Amino acid sequence: MSARLLPGKPVADEILRDVSERAAALRARGVAPSLATILVGDDDASAGYIRIKQRQAAELGFVSPHEHLPASASQADVLKVVEQFNDDRDVHGVLIQYPIPGHLDYDAALGALDPDKDVDGMHPLNMGRLALGMPGPLPCTPAGIEALLAHHEIPVAGREVVILGRGATLGRPLALLLAQKRPTANAAVTVVHTGVKDWPRYTQRADILIAAAGVPGIIQPEHVKPGGVVIGGGVRYEGRRLLPDVDESCEAVAGAITPRVGGVGPTTVAMLFRNAITAAERATA
Ligand SMILES: NC(=O)c1ccc[n+]([C@@H]2O[C@H](COP(=O)([O-])OP(=O)(O)OC[C@H]3O[C@@H](n4cnc5c(N)ncnc54)[C@H](OP(=O)(O)O)[C@@H]3O)[C@@H](O)[C@H]2O)c1
Repeated sequence: MSARLLPGKPVADEILRDVSERAAALRARGVAPSLATILVGDDDASAGYIRIKQRQAAELGFVSPHEHLPASASQADVLKVVEQFNDDRDVHGVLIQYPIPGHLDYDAALGALDPDKDVDGMHPLNMGRLALGMPGPLPCTPAGIEALLAHHEIPVAGREVVILGRGATLGRPLALLLAQKRPTANAAVTVVHTGVKDWPRYTQRADILIAAAGVPGIIQPEHVKPGGVVIGGGVRYEGRRLLPDVDESCEAVAGAITPRVGGVGPTTVAMLFRNAITAAERATA
């Protein structure tokens, strides 16, 4: 029997409909919601991601000022742009496209950003807010996964969730999020990683298994509980080819599974705009 597929697009569409309505309400009272973007260097893929986000911003009724710095930019150049956007009251959210060239310190640039304009939800203060259960912008991929599970009516509360990976972008904040006391979370969460050599022992009993390792094909059918839910978060790119953590053959064992393409990705982008519209509303309330 083949697993039920859990696409991300309908989840993203629902979130973006809400964002679009909220953007229209802001514009009706004379506020132009604004998501600024910073790109450093000439990475084609990053430039492509920025173009996609700017197109989406325009469709949703945002303005999106953009700063493109050369690959030779210094840390001081990057910080200057971050500070300009911090100080600009007409800019409500700021995205620093990752990665930036190797001689630059991304964490320092993120740390210099006004936490209330941090649409990625990755600023240390926002990670702290997440850990403490305080309101703030949530990291986009983890928040997208919670929304995806809720949209597809996969019960999470009280169930065993196992996350493979404890990275700062995905596994670690996702564990904090899904353990929170909320109807769409409230799970028994276990996080496994390279320090847990017998990690399949944990994943095999997971009601919901979330791959967050970035190791293509690391999740095979024998790692999945028959009938369980499998969410593929981790991916690696080889050129334009996307290599997911979850092997396609898991569809034969799982009860429900994200598709190879179009699972978690669209929900991540939608969450970015949800953070941006919330920042715009808060800044202009
Ligand atoms: N779909 C999306 O929209 C989206 C968005 C953001 C990120 N991602 C993807 O999410 C993945 C995770 O990102 P991240 O930055 O959070 O991760 P990361 O910092 O690269 O960490 C990867 C984690 O996986 C664990 N791991 C790696 N190989 C393993 C193995 N063989 N056995 C057991 N554990 C293993 C590592 O364990 P140790 O800690 O022990 O080293 C680490 O905790 C990446 O593939 C990224 O591309 C996807």
